[in-house]
Amino acid sequence: MAAVVLVGTQWGDEGKGKITDLLSQDFDYVVRFQGGNNAGHTVIHDGHTLKLHLIPSGVMYESVTPVIGNGCVIDPKVLLAEIDAVQSEGISCERLTISSNAHLIMPYHRDLDGASERRLGAQEIGTTRRGIGPAYQDKATRLGLRTQDLFDRSIFREKVAAALTEKNDILDKIYGLPTYTVDQLADEYLAYAEILNPYVADTAPLLNDALDAGQWVFFEGAQGTLLDLDHGTYPFVTSSNPTAGGACVGTGVGPARIDRVLGIAKAYITRVGSGPFPTELDTDDADGDTFIRVGHEYGTTTGRRRRPGWYDAPVVRYAVQVNGLTDLAITKLDVLSAFDEIKVCVAYEHLGQTYTSVPGHQSAFHHARPIYETLPGWKTDISACRDFNDLPPAARDYIAYLEELAGVPVSLIAVGPQREQTIIRNWERR
Ligand code: GDP
Ligand code: IMO
Ligand code: MG
Repeated sequence: MAAVVLVGTQWGDEGKGKITDLLSQDFDYVVRFQGGNNAGHTVIHDGHTLKLHLIPSGVMYESVTPVIGNGCVIDPKVLLAEIDAVQSEGISCERLTISSNAHLIMPYHRDLDGASERRLGAQEIGTTRRGIGPAYQDKATRLGLRTQDLFDRSIFREKVAAALTEKNDILDKIYGLPTYTVDQLADEYLAYAEILNPYVADTAPLLNDALDAGQWVFFEGAQGTLLDLDHGTYPFVTSSNPTAGGACVGTGVGPARIDRVLGIAKAYITRVGSGPFPTELDTDDADGDTFIRVGHEYGTTTGRRRRPGWYDAPVVRYAVQVNGLTDLAITKLDVLSAFDEIKVCVAYEHLGQTYTSVPGHQSAFHHARPIYETLPGWKTDISACRDFNDLPPAARDYIAYLEELAGVPVSLIAVGPQREQTIIRNWERR
């Protein structure tokens, strides 16, 4: 099992950080392949809670080299603050390796993210306003700056000047916002360059050589399948590819090298930001309130209250397909202990048609009416269970039902936020 890709199967915040932290102890490299500091991955280490935004969740282990791949966008200011925060917990970031091809988030990207959201008004996407979309936009239009540009002062100034001719016009003339000078951005970013220099490397050969040498590489996805730019609920998506194919593009490792694709699914669903969500519960719904209260469902990055809903099998079935999932990890099963009865959306109905996966047309998904099955709850604390057979029969039946609906096995089950609060059913350790 040399190369494993982990992806979110829903709308993010499935518990990817916790599962990555647990599994990555056996790996030599843990690689982020897309996204930026829109991600918020929670890892609990020696009783301390770390909220990681850019640094891969394997950073806790001395044997792991954490890598930020070429598919990521990096805000150097945020990254340096995160390195400080992690090191202040006594965890070394010395091995952190950053792709020289990763794109940089510039201050005008943050400004434009906020400004474009304000302009959209009621139609806003609900972005994290971290400048993610505008940075990927510049990557695609070839106006972006990459980490390697930081190490050549004249190239950096030249590229900033080229970008500013357009950005300053947009900032000033469209949004009435302050503009930037080349000196201002060069002063700020070239100071970051000195600190970042030891971390930057050509990471595609590094990872391929590692795989050639029999080492293990773990690809840690951010966001989730339904937030994918191509496969998600466009336009209410992020600007990168959190699906499994993104791991190849975002690192330079070919698809034939991937051995296993693990999808993380929360035992219910949450979403932050706007966009369709068939099983969403109203803000005054008692069950929704229980998900928020018991599951502590507030955004790791923005602190926003997450939108809650019951488990949606068509969404996960869709994620199985577009990611080529080999197995699932179900997280937060312990949160369901609060309910007398548990609902599972097994299909949708729209205009007399039944859908068992995500409908191809956006209108059908927007108006999809969930069809629920109701299962008995177990009403017992399961947070100390470490073996599948320790779970009450109703919880085992629930997992078996999710397996049947998804068509892939559930290999891991998380029953609490701590690393060891996990039932491992089928996972090769080293
Ligand atoms: P990520 O973005 O996918 O890494 O997920 P987040 O860290 O944003 O959100 C998941 C939250 O659930 C975090 O606060 C985790 O500590 C917590 N968590 C993860 N797994 C479990 C679990 O099995 N049970 C409970 N109760 N909490 C969990
Ligand atoms: P993790 O890795 C949940 C959502 C935002 C918004 C949309 C676009 O912690 O699961 P962006 O700032 O990316 O342009 O916002 O995507 N979003 C997330 N939602 N978890 C995340 O990451 C997210 N990253 C972005 O709320 O709806
Ligand atoms: Mg998160």
